[in-house]
Amino acid sequence: MPAISPLDGPVAVTGCSGNTGGHMVRELAIQGYEVRACIRDANSWRGKDSVDYLSRLPRVEIMDGCDLFKAGSYDAAFKGCTAVFHTAAVLGNSADGKSQPLGSGDRQMDVFNGGVIGTQNVIDAITASGSVRRLVYTSSMAAVHGIGEARQVVPAGHEWTETDWASNGIDPEIWQDPGNAYARSKVETERLINEAADASSGKWDAVTLLPAMICGPILFKAQVGQWIEQIGRIAAGLATTWLSEYDHYYNIIDVRDLVKAHRLAAESSVDHRATTGGSRYLMHGSGGRSALRLGTEVRAIIHEYFPAFTLGNPKTVTASGEPVTVQSSTVNDCKKAKSVLGATIRPVEDTIRAIVETSIELGIIEPQLAEPARDA
Ligand SMILES: NC(=O)c1ccc[n+]([C@@H]2O[C@H](COP(=O)([O-])OP(=O)(O)OC[C@H]3O[C@@H](n4cnc5c(N)ncnc54)[C@H](OP(=O)(O)O)[C@@H]3O)[C@@H](O)[C@H]2O)c1
Repeated sequence: MPAISPLDGPVAVTGCSGNTGGHMVRELAIQGYEVRACIRDANSWRGKDSVDYLSRLPRVEIMDGCDLFKAGSYDAAFKGCTAVFHTAAVLGNSADGKSQPLGSGDRQMDVFNGGVIGTQNVIDAITASGSVRRLVYTSSMAAVHGIGEARQVVPAGHEWTETDWASNGIDPEIWQDPGNAYARSKVETERLINEAADASSGKWDAVTLLPAMICGPILFKAQVGQWIEQIGRIAAGLATTWLSEYDHYYNIIDVRDLVKAHRLAAESSVDHRATTGGSRYLMHGSGGRSALRLGTEVRAIIHEYFPAFTLGNPKTVTASGEPVTVQSSTVNDCKKAKSVLGATIRPVEDTIRAIVETSIELGIIEPQLAEPARDA
């Protein structure tokens, strides 16, 4: 018997003006679920843009005013729900130090507190509901290997698994550094959730998905950011801007595969806590490919599908003439999510092509056509 099914009653999703949240609502709605789509501010441009899309989906109710920094703001949304998909986080556009009306104004503090304090508010609303049986949380590969200067040093060929934690063996001073707020927030939020689920005496349990860089088709403009935006920029012949103008690698995961895995995690009757690494599922590596380099591999895929476009080219040499060093990572290919949850992972080529196609359809980019080679 599935733990949760569309016949059991409504489910709620947090962060629905975002990339993962918007796709999560779509995935659940087309599988027959009645969905409460939690939005922070339906009058913001991201709010309006997402509501315009989400309200056209069947059996979706928009729940406005759900702010991670406001205790009690998820109570009405979760009342009577059987599951909560918690994708909201202070991230990207929402983490510029200006876009958190109830935040501190300090970007890193808001990133950290949005995870820990925000998720405590989500947990309190689950407890208040008395009906929620499962929380599915979106963590990050940052909670596995850390990021930036706090990235774990591992031997060549190390394959990240659900047993790896970014906090393992790290110098406490580096771990507490504000620049490491995101990874620390994800690790501490995972622990908070697991402890709260244990303390609920079986009323609800928790499952965590840990995605790499989330890519895939754009449903509405508010979803554009990070690598989705950069892949669009390359297709439009523009310079890349994030993380910088320089070439780099990322592990990617298709958002469609990611949200499907979230749904399967909610529906699965497996005892997730008893599986290797506990109730965590890494979501990185697509079809045996994992760390793609933006300026070579991603660019080559765009060229293959869109040969007439003049493409942008991330810089590979610094202003002082030094070659840019790029960091690779090893493939896990969602092994546990595939074997335990039945997750399916599409080839990265589909993901890259979908980003470019939807960027054009939604008017986000305007490709420049290359002059065809002429015979002499
Ligand atoms: N981006 C990635 O590649 C990536 C990789 C690994 C893990 N993750 C994790 O995956 C999850 C989804 O990421 P994403 O890329 O889909 O994020 P996203 O597109 O930036 O969306 C974030 C969502 O969180 C909401 N939010 C921000 N501050 C909030 C607050 N104070 N109260 C309520 N909602 C708030 C945003 O609402 P507003 O529009 O109102 O700001 C938005 O709906 C996050 O937990 C993230 O940490 C992301």
